[in-house]
Amino acid sequence: MTKPETMLVTGASRGIGRETVRRFFLAPQGPRELILLARKSDAFDRTVAELAADNPYERTVHRHDVDLADRDAVIGVMAEVADRHENVDVLVNNAGFTDPKPIQQIDFSSFERTIAVNLYAPFTIVQELLRHGNSFQLVVNIASTAGLGGRPGWLTYSASKSALITMSEVMKEELSMYGTRVVCISPGRCATDLRRTLAPDEDPGTIMQPEHVAAVIEMLASDVGRFVDSQNLVVRQ
Ligand SMILES: NC(=O)c1ccc[n+]([C@@H]2O[C@H](COP(=O)([O-])OP(=O)(O)OC[C@H]3O[C@@H](n4cnc5c(N)ncnc54)[C@H](OP(=O)(O)O)[C@@H]3O)[C@@H](O)[C@H]2O)c1
Repeated sequence: MTKPETMLVTGASRGIGRETVRRFFLAPQGPRELILLARKSDAFDRTVAELAADNPYERTVHRHDVDLADRDAVIGVMAEVADRHENVDVLVNNAGFTDPKPIQQIDFSSFERTIAVNLYAPFTIVQELLRHGNSFQLVVNIASTAGLGGRPGWLTYSASKSALITMSEVMKEELSMYGTRVVCISPGRCATDLRRTLAPDEDPGTIMQPEHVAAVIEMLASDVGRFVDSQNLVVRQ
């Protein structure tokens, strides 16, 4: 793989996204420019400030505060990204949302938000950048083992991730002719805020950490990553 110069990560404020950004930012072979997406928050401010405070390779960070459930806003940000950057070489569709509820209590707007963030946003980002002439080297979509099997209370989340796994397969087939690799990762339980929402009583110290998933993403973007030919890579403890 040619050395990626520009990388875009969604859900960059916290959890797996934050660790992924940190890992590439601090790697000697990391991209020159990092484009970070999340909603405006103290956590996002902190992540961006931490990167600025320890920037050994003088990399550039571009921050976009955007609600990924707002499709028009996502389209607008992609136009800005395409205007400002020559190309996005590596895209990590990491942002995720969950609002676990039994079927009777599911609010339809919450289902819509889950699908918008977990499925429509990755699609819109890929589609918009392609329409702007972008040529991805690598697209990593972060699904979940929840997309491989159902659990009580996880209907909206599981449905969104299951669809993301299948959507990634189609992207992989369609984009290979442009030299783009598309890999879907399905993490198992990982110690983040999202996991706390799904399993509030679990001890986060006993499960996989965000940096472990970030290390797998780094491997996928490395020279050996092209030897991983998987429809859906399960990453779990
Ligand atoms: N943790 C696990 O056990 C686990 C297991 C399997 C898969 N995953 C997947 O891994 C990915 C990362 O999740 P995580 O565990 O690291 O969770 P997290 O710590 O809760 O982080 C979620 C990230 O997604 C962003 N996000 C959520 N809703 C958004 C919205 N409407 N607009 C923009 N950004 C939004 C958040 O940014 P804001 O600051 O804007 O909220 C945050 O940066 C997700 O796709 C998740 O489904 C996680």
